[in-house]
Amino acid sequence: MANQEIERRRTFAIIAHPDAGKTSLTEKLLLFGGQIQVAGAVKSNKIKKTATSDWMDIEKQRGISVTTSVMEFDYNGYKVNILDTPGHQDFAEDTYRTLTAVDSVIIVVDGAKGVETQTRKLMEVCRMRNTPVIIFVNKMDREAKDPFDLLDELEEELVINVRPLTWPIESGPRFKGVYNIYEKKLNLFQPSKQVVTEKVEVDIHTEDLGNRIGAPLAEKLRSDLELIEGVYPAFDVNGYLKGELAPVFFGSALNNFGVQELLDCFVEIAPSPRPVQAEERTVTPDEPKFTGFIFKITANIDPNHRSCVAFCKVCSGKFVRNAPYLHVRHNKTVRFSSPTQFMAQRKTTVDEAWAGDIIGLPDNGVFKIGDTLTEGEKLHFKGLPSFSPEMFKYIENADPMKTKQLNKGIDQLMDEGVAQLFINQFNGRKLIGTVGQLQFEVIQYRLENEYNAKCRWEPVSLYKACWIESDDPAELEAFKKRKFQYMAKDREGRDVFLADSGYVLQMAQNDFKHIKFHFTSEF
Ligand code: G4P
Repeated sequence: MANQEIERRRTFAIIAHPDAGKTSLTEKLLLFGGQIQVAGAVKSNKIKKTATSDWMDIEKQRGISVTTSVMEFDYNGYKVNILDTPGHQDFAEDTYRTLTAVDSVIIVVDGAKGVETQTRKLMEVCRMRNTPVIIFVNKMDREAKDPFDLLDELEEELVINVRPLTWPIESGPRFKGVYNIYEKKLNLFQPSKQVVTEKVEVDIHTEDLGNRIGAPLAEKLRSDLELIEGVYPAFDVNGYLKGELAPVFFGSALNNFGVQELLDCFVEIAPSPRPVQAEERTVTPDEPKFTGFIFKITANIDPNHRSCVAFCKVCSGKFVRNAPYLHVRHNKTVRFSSPTQFMAQRKTTVDEAWAGDIIGLPDNGVFKIGDTLTEGEKLHFKGLPSFSPEMFKYIENADPMKTKQLNKGIDQLMDEGVAQLFINQFNGRKLIGTVGQLQFEVIQYRLENEYNAKCRWEPVSLYKACWIESDDPAELEAFKKRKFQYMAKDREGRDVFLADSGYVLQMAQNDFKHIKFHFTSEF
């Protein structure tokens, strides 16, 4: 029973550059899962790109992300868990962490734009963890790049081997549909947001194909398919599972075209929950005892009381409501009377959850990103990586009467993973690092609203913060002495070098050959 429950779970995230079609694809998947009945029910969680983002936008982002953080549905006997990732790139850190809780990923690429920056960055995180990846090339109903060029671009930019499993017949106004290479079926395109297109079985070597799409296109499809078979080796599911090979699908999420093929293939080949590495040992999903870790904490939209939801990925065994679990970092027993699971926009209380599932635990400040829950074993799941922030500001107290509140606020917001805190060892000042401007606004707003504290920002021009280590203690000391004005500690007390320009960093790397400069905290 336990094994069957775990085997049928597919926990994944859809990642994309903003506007590529993540929301549209998510919606169509929910449609197939029976979670929603009509298209248009899922609202985009992205903050509209206005020149200045105001508080309402931030509030919306936070509010909506609580309810749609995880969506789950049953499909053909599989239990599918989709983890949502924030659309706005200022929340990229949140997305990186979400990727630590998934077993595979679907990447959506806009057929006209190809691989964009955000996709490239997110793929780096997938590569670090060998996460299996399926690619969906979207918006084929619009004029798209040549599909062969797109495949080359995907391979080059995402540094992964690709293998098309469907193939488009033209694009834009001439878009006729896709040929399903592994099912050997033709899928004719009818633009519709609601109706799922019927598949027709066509022998591509007969005249039937020409009758349906015209003789010239039939000829082109035949030669394209021949070329594909010649250039790309047969699809190897093991290569996919190792994160080395990405199957590619073409379609149009908005028109619900090519989505079912993607879903059918996904549930079949995507991995069930994979083993998770703890510091002490590898934890396998089918172990009888429950273990899990917190990968995301989201604040509630209600400004009157600070309540959060901590998202826990169940790594092994079965989670049971009200059962006593060990909060390893606090060494305390905790029970959860109202754990939640998420069905599209609805939240429901759950009595049990299996490895692979995500549960929402009400949190009023006891959790920190990376915390582990077990049935008693002192396990520590490997730290989720922090990435070198890209923007830095000193945080100053703007209301001296509220120092305590400010410090508590900063601490808890950092626990939630909103941003990273460094203490400059030279002047003792608190430096906040983020990946986007919006996070500074979120912090300031939340400090005021939830902690009654006021802060002021002082900009600093820094290029990168990197974690440093060395096997040569003398050289490390010499480095720290030379750069004493630029040394900081992160919250774990690790040494961080604050490089104020790319040139300075390069010089430091040249001068101190035995020092390793890391751009993520997991090394
Ligand atoms: P995102 O979550 O990745 O940011 O993308 P989202 O699904 O919100 O899609 C971004 C825009 O692209 C939307 O248009 C959406 O309708 C459109 N889109 C998505 N898939 C397709 C497709 O297959 N074909 C075409 N032609 N367009 C597609 P919008 O104008 O920003 O929003 P809306 O007014 O349509 O909601």
